[in-house]
Amino acid sequence: MRRKVTIVGSGNVGATVAHRLADRQLADVVLMDILEGIPQGKGLDLLEAGPIEGYDIRITGTNSYADTANSDLVVMTAGFPRKPGMSRDDLLKANFEVVKGAVEQVARYSPECILIVVTNPLDAMAQAAYKVSGFSKNRVMGMAGVLDTARYRTFLAEALNVSVQNVQGFVLGGHGDTMVPVPRYTTVAGIPVTELLPQDQLEAIIRRTANGGAEIVNLLKAGSAYYAPSAAVVEMIDAIFHDRKKILPCSAYLEGEYGIHGLFVGVPVKLGSRGIEQIIEIKLTPEELAALRRSAEAVKELVQVIGV
Ligand code: 2OP
Repeated sequence: MRRKVTIVGSGNVGATVAHRLADRQLADVVLMDILEGIPQGKGLDLLEAGPIEGYDIRITGTNSYADTANSDLVVMTAGFPRKPGMSRDDLLKANFEVVKGAVEQVARYSPECILIVVTNPLDAMAQAAYKVSGFSKNRVMGMAGVLDTARYRTFLAEALNVSVQNVQGFVLGGHGDTMVPVPRYTTVAGIPVTELLPQDQLEAIIRRTANGGAEIVNLLKAGSAYYAPSAAVVEMIDAIFHDRKKILPCSAYLEGEYGIHGLFVGVPVKLGSRGIEQIIEIKLTPEELAALRRSAEAVKELVQVIGV
């Protein structure tokens, strides 16, 4: 059966997710945006690439949520991107209004869907989407950990001059300056990275990872990253649609795991056809746990401002 994915927001992240879904023939795609012409134009352009690329999925653009009805999965990218010098948190109130309005429509037209939130500030927007949708917690998640981990792996592979495929690890915590890469659980072809790189170099890579989004914003001047973010979203969709039971770091609603209650924070989860099928609790040292809780506190401050 053909699956249907709606992408809310037809900016760079949304359109690149559509492009990657088409290339991998993962689903029919509806690009939804309030801007007239942009989703229709990008949708048609992608559709017309099909005969050359060899995909026959349907891609449409629309300004009407009615066309998104009965989606299996919805990716929420709508919102304002960061400008240079802005933190993700500066976006809080403006993007809350956007996400709230959009999620109300998503829940109305696709009440059974799985929702992946990409809009920043990520963890707070995932929490807003969860509360506004009324969906069960396994069906609402934020994309950040896969992206942050990809950046972490890239910088480590560069420093060690090895294939990125050899580097395994994950980043915990909120998608912000307080995110928590965990060197103790990072390996290179099975070798702990702590055996391969000196502490100061690891710390520099961790700082660059936490600053990874801003690094791109500062280079682009207008807009934020989209190639790696869209690749991260599609890895999550692939794990869900193929029921892979893949362990990936995602922003998930915690109810006591890691001692955190009622909050979306990035943790390793198992992704399968039901969405988040398990939250993986790994053993952390007191310092790592303290860093994770500090990161959770930063998310909590935001969700309290918007009251979700
Ligand atoms: C990033 O990290 C924009 O938050 C996004 O690139």
